[in-house]
Amino acid sequence: MSELNGKVVVITGASSGIGETTARLLASLGAHVVIGARRVERLESLASDIQGDGGSVVIQQLDVTELEQMQAIIGAAQSRFGRVDAIINNAGVMPLSSLEALKIEEWNRMIDVNIRGVLHGIATGLPVMKKQGFGHFINIASTGAYEVTPTAAVYCATKYAVRAITDGLRQETVGLGIRVTLVSPGVTESELAESITDNQAREFMKEYRRNALPTKAIARAIVYALEQPVHVDVSELVIKPSM
Ligand SMILES: NC(=O)c1ccc[n+]([C@@H]2O[C@H](COP(=O)([O-])OP(=O)(O)OC[C@H]3O[C@@H](n4cnc5c(N)ncnc54)[C@H](OP(=O)(O)O)[C@@H]3O)[C@@H](O)[C@H]2O)c1
Repeated sequence: MSELNGKVVVITGASSGIGETTARLLASLGAHVVIGARRVERLESLASDIQGDGGSVVIQQLDVTELEQMQAIIGAAQSRFGRVDAIINNAGVMPLSSLEALKIEEWNRMIDVNIRGVLHGIATGLPVMKKQGFGHFINIASTGAYEVTPTAAVYCATKYAVRAITDGLRQETVGLGIRVTLVSPGVTESELAESITDNQAREFMKEYRRNALPTKAIARAIVYALEQPVHVDVSELVIKPSM
């Protein structure tokens, strides 16, 4: 039986891509998955698949930029299962463009979802985990948390921020029974690049994203971190295509 059997895992941004595949994999390993995103119809369809395969799932409409909605999904996990073993702060957006395009609304959206969303997950989950004396944050950054590419200055800035916040959280929670993992995917098949409105960035990304990992590669990395014994903190995982 998997180490994850019976564990309660909240996943933000579970309606597509990495979050969706991670939800399917965790549920297949016996975890109770509590999944959130804005597109509820996608969550409903995913939940029906998971339940059809005998898995346990709760869905909750979630916009991570709204603190109250993050509180609601963590609250739903607590009231249904009485505990929260892990929170995967995965929701993210990537409307890339060069800075000179001045797409300020898109910069703000990346800051709101990618940084503020993760902070809302921490603000809500940390008191719960401290009280429990256990818990695990998995924050999804990117290889863009380590290097900047053209048209990705703001996106990378948000991911550098997630990396910094995650490192700070780890340092502050040592000894509390709380584990903290940063997972940084390289290019991975998903809907992420569909939010790009800038023609130059869209063309650049077509070539850049040609060689992509399947989402299962990232889901397996997340499972690896979650499955470790409680005294083992996997701090950072960077996953890139090998070809
Ligand atoms: N794919 C890659 O190449 C890659 C590489 C490095 C890092 N990442 C990171 O991986 C994470 C997952 O992305 P993905 O690749 O799986 O892309 P995706 O298929 O576009 O998934 C993004 C998820 O985030 C959700 N989301 C967006 N805004 C949200 C909001 N305000 N509140 C709640 N959920 C929101 C989306 O759901 P709704 O639209 O239904 O809300 C969707 O479920 C992101 O943090 C991304 O930056 C991806």
